[in-house]
Amino acid sequence: MRLDGKVALITGGASGIGLATSRKFVREGAKVVIADINLDQAEAAAAAIAAEGFEGSVAAVRVNVSVFAEVEAAVARAVEVFGKLDVIFNNAGIAGGKPLLEHDPVADYEPIIRVDQDGVYYGILAAGRQFRAQGTGGVIISTSSIYGEQAAELSFTYSAAKAAVISFTRSAAYELAEYGVRAVAITPGRVGTPIINQFSEELKAVFASEQLRNKLTEPEEIANVVAFLASDEANVINGTVVSVDDGYSV
Ligand code: NAI
Repeated sequence: MRLDGKVALITGGASGIGLATSRKFVREGAKVVIADINLDQAEAAAAAIAAEGFEGSVAAVRVNVSVFAEVEAAVARAVEVFGKLDVIFNNAGIAGGKPLLEHDPVADYEPIIRVDQDGVYYGILAAGRQFRAQGTGGVIISTSSIYGEQAAELSFTYSAAKAAVISFTRSAAYELAEYGVRAVAITPGRVGTPIINQFSEELKAVFASEQLRNKLTEPEEIANVVAFLASDEANVINGTVVSVDDGYSV
């Protein structure tokens, strides 16, 4: 199995891409801590995965990734439960936005920056320190977006935060290489999760048509790539962006 013996912390692991990745990692032999602001949903997700034959391989913790002390505590919890940390998947995120000139400069800026940008920074910092302390190396995977690389409607703040994720990834790879740490960002396109599923069927059809297979990506399809990136098979993929957008950006 691809992730045999690895311990992973997955933020936003209670839903969508994070949930699919938690399940995939466990099936690939990893021990996983599902970290989410929604503890009930994280615990339910952990219980469901455990019941699939993986008792003892998955735990849940509440974290608000916008608070550094909470992210540090989540890393500490993973180490307490499973003995170490090998992988962090900085994936928790929120979306939304308004036309720029209609922004309230606090309400339409700070929440997204606090979660999508600061949350990833905190994950990199807390996990990086843990990897250095362990002396084992580690892998940092962070969820950016197609919007991190291009402008789009209603995305002024979200695009900025997701662009920062790409920059953090490059800099983390550069700075942490001496500790055997790799960092990779992924850029999903349109993935069928609650973020997208809240929209009308009509709008979802438009989203699907923007991708080359004319369908929304399944969260499991993203999870497959993340599992590969977390594995030793991906050792030469470092400090870069892996596009998982089904051709959205061609
Ligand atoms: P989702 O809404 O299904 O999952 C997001 C999870 O993050 C939820 O479980 C939520 O409780 C958690 N979360 C939100 N704020 C948090 C906080 N402050 N601390 C801890 N956990 C928090 O959404 P999805 O689609 O699975 O999103 C995962 C990531 O993928 C996000 O970063 C999102 O921006 C990104 N993304 C999603 C795309 C899509 O089409 N669904 C496209 C590109 C990027």
